[in-house]
Amino acid sequence: MLEIKSLTKKFGDNVAVNELSFSVSEPQIIGIIGRSGAGKSTFLRMMNRMTDATSGELLVDGTDVLSLKGQAKMDWQRNCAMIFQQFNLVPRLNVLTNVILGRLNQQSILRSSLLFFTQSERHEALRLMDRFGVAQTALQRAETLSGGQQQRVAICRAMMQQPKFILADEPIASLDPLNARLVMEALQKINQEEKITVICNLHTLDTARTYCDRVIGMREGQKVFDDVPTALTDTMAREIYGAEAEEAFEGSITSTSLGGDESAAQLEPEAARAAV
Ligand SMILES: Nc1ncnc2c1ncn2[C@@H]1O[C@H](COP(=O)(O)OP(=O)(O)OP(=O)(O)O)[C@@H](O)[C@H]1O
Ligand SMILES: [Mg+2]
Repeated sequence: MLEIKSLTKKFGDNVAVNELSFSVSEPQIIGIIGRSGAGKSTFLRMMNRMTDATSGELLVDGTDVLSLKGQAKMDWQRNCAMIFQQFNLVPRLNVLTNVILGRLNQQSILRSSLLFFTQSERHEALRLMDRFGVAQTALQRAETLSGGQQQRVAICRAMMQQPKFILADEPIASLDPLNARLVMEALQKINQEEKITVICNLHTLDTARTYCDRVIGMREGQKVFDDVPTALTDTMAREIYGAEAEEAFEGSITSTSLGGDESAAQLEPEAARAAV
C-alpha cells in the first residue's frame, strides 16, 4: 500500500509539487500526464529519494520513506527502480553486464567494479533479456543498440533490482512508434505478471489511455485529475495541458503494426545463450 499525503517540493518560491496526495492499494500501471514543468519528474525524484521533499509524507506499508536514512534509504532506492528517457546504460559495457549491474549495485562495490557475476545472476539476466526480446544482443556493447533495444535493456536492469515499484520518466519520449509500443508493452507485462506498480510520466495522451489503469493529471504542481483513462475526456485533457494540448493529442503509437527486424517474434534467444 502506497500512500502519498500532501507531498510538496519548493525550489525557492517555485512550488514544483503542491500538496500532492493519492494512494495505490493494488498493483497498477499509473500514467502521470501534464504540461512541461507541471512537476511530474520532481514527484518521481522525491519518490525514489533522489531529491528531498519540502513537506508531506510518502508511506509504503505504513513506513514513511521520506525519513529513511543510510542503508534503509538505499534499500528503498533498490525497491524503486528508475527508467529514464535516455536509458542511462553504461555505453561501453556489454548488454549482459549492464543488466547484471542492476543487481550488483545493491551489493558489494568491489564485486561491481570487478564485474564478478555468479552463474545464477547470468542466468537470471538472460532470462529477463529473453523475456523482453533483447537476449540476442547480450554480448554487444550497449551503445551499439537501437534506442528501443536500449530501453528494454534498461527495463531488464531495473527488474534485476527486484523492485516493488518501477518509476519511468518519459520512457518512450525518444523512441519511434514501434519501439515505444514494445517498451510500453514490456512495462504493462511487468505490472500484470509481476504485480509491480509502475508509475510512468508520459508525454502523449494516447499512450496513457492505452496502457494505464489509472491516469493522474498534474497542472502547476497540483493534481487536477485522478481516474480511469476512460474518464479522461478531451475537454479534461485540454484543461490539464492548456496550451500544450495539441502536442499531447499527437503521437499515437497504437496503430503501428509490428514488423521489420525489431519484431519480438523474430528474436533468437537460443543463439545468444549459446554465445555466453
Ligand atoms: N533542480 C531544480 N532547481 C530548481 N527548479 C527546479 C529543479 N527541478 C525542477 N525545477 C522546477 O520545478 C518545476 C517542475 O519541474 P519538473 O521537471 O518536475 O516538470 P515536468 O512535469 O517533469 O516537466 P517536463 O514535462 O518538461 O519534463 C519547474 O518549474 C522546474 O523549473
Ligand atoms: Mg519531466
